[in-house]
Amino acid sequence: MRIPFIAGNWKMNKSIDEARQLVSELLPLLKDIKTAEIAVCPPFVSLTSVKSLLLGSAVKLGTQNIHDQEKGAFTGEVAPGMLAGWVDYAILGHSERRQIFGESDAFINRKVLAALKHGMTPILCIGETLEENEAGQTETVLERQVRAGVADISATDAPRLVVAYEPIWAIGTGRAATADDAQTRCAFVRACLRAQLGDAADTIRVQYGGSVSAANAAEILSKPDIDGALVGGASLKAADFAAICRAAGA
Ligand code: PGA
Repeated sequence: MRIPFIAGNWKMNKSIDEARQLVSELLPLLKDIKTAEIAVCPPFVSLTSVKSLLLGSAVKLGTQNIHDQEKGAFTGEVAPGMLAGWVDYAILGHSERRQIFGESDAFINRKVLAALKHGMTPILCIGETLEENEAGQTETVLERQVRAGVADISATDAPRLVVAYEPIWAIGTGRAATADDAQTRCAFVRACLRAQLGDAADTIRVQYGGSVSAANAAEILSKPDIDGALVGGASLKAADFAAICRAAGA
C-alpha cells in the first residue's frame, strides 16, 4: 500500500546545462515505470529549468534544502514559500547539513513544519555515525532524531512525511548497509514513528540511503519496511539511476 519512492540527491553537482542534460537522458529511461514514484533533487540554481523539462512526465522535483523562515535577512538562503508550487519534495536534515553546516534537530524540525505548510513533502534524513554505530548507540540516535524531527506535525500532515534512514558511514563510501540490517533499522524507525504519530506510521514511507547502487537496489528494496531509496552518487548517472528506479517498480 506504500508506493515505493526513489529520490535522486544530486548534492552540489551538475551545472545548469549538465542538469538539463541529465534529465533529458533520464526521462526516456523512466517513462515506462508506473509503480514507483521518482524524484530528482538538483541544486537550487537548476530547479526551474529542470522543472520545465519534467512537465508532462511523472517524475517529481525536490529541493535539497530550505530555510525555515518566510523571508528576511538570511543571505544566501531560500525561503520555503519561494519554492511552494514548484517543488514536490524537500530533503531536510541530510547528514551533510547536520555535520558540515551544524544544523540542529530543532532547526530541522522547523524546516519540516515549514515544508509541510508550503505544500512540500519533507524527506527527513536521519542516521548514525560510525562511532555511534560501533558504540551500540544507533537506536538511541534514531529515536532522538525521529522524535525531534517530527515534533508538532499535525495528524493530517503526518501521513505525507517521508523519512530517509541513512547511516552516515554508508554515504558515499560504497559500503551500503546489508539489506537485512537496513530492514532492521527501517523497521525500528517505523516503530519510532508509530510512538510519535500513531497509525500514520503505516503510511509514512521510510527510505534507505547510503551507497545504493544498480547492483544492490533490488535486494534492499525487497525488504518489507524499506519503501524506497535516497540515492546520491548513483543518481548522477542516468543509466544507474534508471536501473535503481526499475528495481523499485515496473
Ligand atoms: P550516496 O549518498 O548514495 O552517494 O551514498 C546518499 C545520500 O547522501 O543521500
